[in-house]
Amino acid sequence: MDKMNITIAITGASGAVFGREMLRALEADERVERMHFVASENSLRVMAEELGLSGRTGLLEKLLGYEPVKTIQHSDTNIGAAIASGSYPSDGMIVLPCSMGTLAAIANGLANTLIARAADVTLKERRPLVLCVRETPFNRVHLRNMTLAAEAGATIFPCIPAFYNHPVDTDEMARQFVWRVLGHIGLPQKGAYVWKAESGV
Ligand SMILES: Cc1cc2nc3c(=O)[nH]c(=O)nc-3n(C[C@H](O)[C@H](O)[C@H](O)COP(=O)(O)O)c2cc1C
Repeated sequence: MDKMNITIAITGASGAVFGREMLRALEADERVERMHFVASENSLRVMAEELGLSGRTGLLEKLLGYEPVKTIQHSDTNIGAAIASGSYPSDGMIVLPCSMGTLAAIANGLANTLIARAADVTLKERRPLVLCVRETPFNRVHLRNMTLAAEAGATIFPCIPAFYNHPVDTDEMARQFVWRVLGHIGLPQKGAYVWKAESGV
């Protein structure tokens, strides 16, 4: 299997812990050669609230807890980044968590930020795009935008963790969810909980 090249975007929806666990899982995954990372401006506010992180300086190191070896961080205003072009050989993109604002931009092809443009490119190149949406309850605009994005080829993978694996804390809950997303894009993770894996019934 060729090593993969994945783009991760964190936007301003609740659930920054999911994004953090995703970055950690992909940095540690030897099947991944390169990770591109974009944090929306508004995600910084949520990361401050939820993870106690402030500012963009050293954000990736703070999220990972160590120096990245394969990850390149881009500004969301840098529409000239490699991932803004379909000629760049990306293997897919995950937006985790995905706000309703970013969902709307992607579903309607705005391509006005690097995150929206990279997602637009992912769809046009028919590559996997996973939108881990987070809001509750949904209004009709959200539901329509999810349908639009799904019709364009995205997978709507809501931030709804499982409970049947009895997670002991938020980090484990987030990690199991992230592993489920990674299994979906062809990167199954050791330790991912499988319901009744050993049972024939
Ligand atoms: C603490 C906090 C939690 C938020 N949670 C959500 C959420 O779960 N879903 C959502 O769509 N927006 C949420 N928002 C609002 C978004 O951050 C806001 O709509 C923002 O414009 C999204 O921008 P972005 O998509 O560029 O990151 C939250 C904002 C804050 C400050």
